[in-house]
Amino acid sequence: MCGIFGIIFAERPRRPLGEILRRGLERLEYRGYDSAGVAVVDRGLVVKKDAGKVAEVAQRYGFDSLQGVVGLAHTRWATHGKPDQVNAHPHVDCRGVIAVVHNGIIENYAELKEELMKRGHVFRSETDTEVIAHLVEEYKKQGLDTFSAFKKALSRVRGAYAIALIDAENPRAIYFARNLSPLIIGVGEGFNIVASDIPTVLDHTKRVIAVRDGEYGYITAGEVYIEADGVPQDVAARIEEIPWSAEMATKGGYPHFMLKEIYEQPESLASTAAGLEPAQLEAVANALLAARNVYIVGAGTSYHAGLTLAFILPRLRITPIPVISSEYAIYEDLYDKDDLAIAISQSGETIDTIKAVKAMRERGVKVVAVTNVVGSTLSRESDVVLYTRAGPEMGVAATKTFTTQVLTLAAVYLTALRALGHDVAEHQRELKAVPDLARKTIEKTAGTAKELARRLRQRLSAYYLGRGAALPVAMEGALKLKEVAYLHAEAYPAGESKHGPIALVEEGFPVIFVFSDPNTGEKTLSNVAEMKARGALTIGTVPARSDYAKKLDVAIEVPQTSELFAPILHVIPLQMLAYFTAVERGYDPDKPRNLAKTVTVE
Ligand code: F6R
Repeated sequence: MCGIFGIIFAERPRRPLGEILRRGLERLEYRGYDSAGVAVVDRGLVVKKDAGKVAEVAQRYGFDSLQGVVGLAHTRWATHGKPDQVNAHPHVDCRGVIAVVHNGIIENYAELKEELMKRGHVFRSETDTEVIAHLVEEYKKQGLDTFSAFKKALSRVRGAYAIALIDAENPRAIYFARNLSPLIIGVGEGFNIVASDIPTVLDHTKRVIAVRDGEYGYITAGEVYIEADGVPQDVAARIEEIPWSAEMATKGGYPHFMLKEIYEQPESLASTAAGLEPAQLEAVANALLAARNVYIVGAGTSYHAGLTLAFILPRLRITPIPVISSEYAIYEDLYDKDDLAIAISQSGETIDTIKAVKAMRERGVKVVAVTNVVGSTLSRESDVVLYTRAGPEMGVAATKTFTTQVLTLAAVYLTALRALGHDVAEHQRELKAVPDLARKTIEKTAGTAKELARRLRQRLSAYYLGRGAALPVAMEGALKLKEVAYLHAEAYPAGESKHGPIALVEEGFPVIFVFSDPNTGEKTLSNVAEMKARGALTIGTVPARSDYAKKLDVAIEVPQTSELFAPILHVIPLQMLAYFTAVERGYDPDKPRNLAKTVTVE
């Protein structure tokens, strides 16, 4: 969604403050790129903002020459009000001394706006955010200092928010608050930062505090103050050292983050494998085997990763219930203290997933989180956390986080299999080999994916088909193509395709088959034949040295492994196909329209 960055220095930084804010915005841009804006205090409040991408807006308004010691910045993914200059953040009060940036939604903004307008406040934008600036102004007018006015304003707003606010009449602090939307503090020497996420502060510091729901406070250049329900919190005890470098959050020579992150997968998978803790996996596996119901919860790509586990769990005589996070209410009457949920979220901040987890926990369900972000909301809302250790993912389209999630879930499955008395030595060897096989897959399939992208670029639509454990991979491939190349792509169980979807198939219609599940390959071949008979261009990801290749127009061969790890290898060429098709069609795969990396609104 939107991204927030605020920084305060003890003295003028060596580089102009505006340049530091612009760089912060570039890091945040993957969270939303409808508009960008900054506010600094330099003998009064200066606000520059407009619709457009960070680079354009920063250039147009000369962000880099803005001076000062305290400033805020914001990138927007529009929720209330169209993306134009007026609705861009920061928003200010009537007198133009208070500036606020916000990620989330203030649900009761309409009534607050009406109340404030009756009191004479003049609103400039259509946003929900602007009420915060006017509320603080109103309470200051009534004689409160800025922090007290800020707290009183918070007591009036309902909804999801991460807020940062500055007051040019009291410029020694940045005030912040969080409820449901992510917010962290970067702790520095002679400066402090508030930001939406960790990669944004890595240029400055690796010492981070995750602000919790319901907390608020302020940072000065030398102090971090956090309060909850009027009680000051022990801040020093909560500082965490983040094991990510600033370099990890840059493109490192690649044209796009998405491509960089696809190529990073061997390394990320190795880091995930190395970080798997046997004792923790055993605890999760035992809970899995003992549970009455097992819910597998996630959104988007994380849901697809969850399905790779859901589709093999019946082999352990477990009937999983896959739950799309936003639809958790369907099963609400089932949730019980004897149940287990495996909640998967790269960011650990997706609001749908957090809400699902909260609803489950309220009824006693034990929650295992699979997440990439240390200290994220999901990690705090769960009983056990398995970190995927993929490093920061900046591309909006999830890539390395999918493969590391699948690896983590496969490790849970293997541990449960062993607990049931099976010999898993061969599978353990396969797990160790995955990073290297991922590297070979990238090397071998990049060329074909690129060529195919040229053939797909003119098409309007494609099917992705798979059976059994191959279906989640097909679903993930289709999602990637839709997201970044803006081509209609639909995934179906291959056998189901003849019950309707095949009607669309005509000469040259691309149908992409996934052969990652050896148990279903033969049957899938009959669907290949059906599609071919209708003139489809049949494409498939197939295990090396199998006979499937001969039956397809274009075969993309990936190394052999068992169906447990095959989703990891088979998805790689599909990620590349989506990436290269986006580039062929002239789109920026890192900034797909209408999408944001972390979805913190319902
Ligand atoms: C797809 C994508 C989204 C996310 C989804 C969940 O490429 O990025 O579908 O997978 O929004 O995000 P997390 O995993 O952060 O909960």
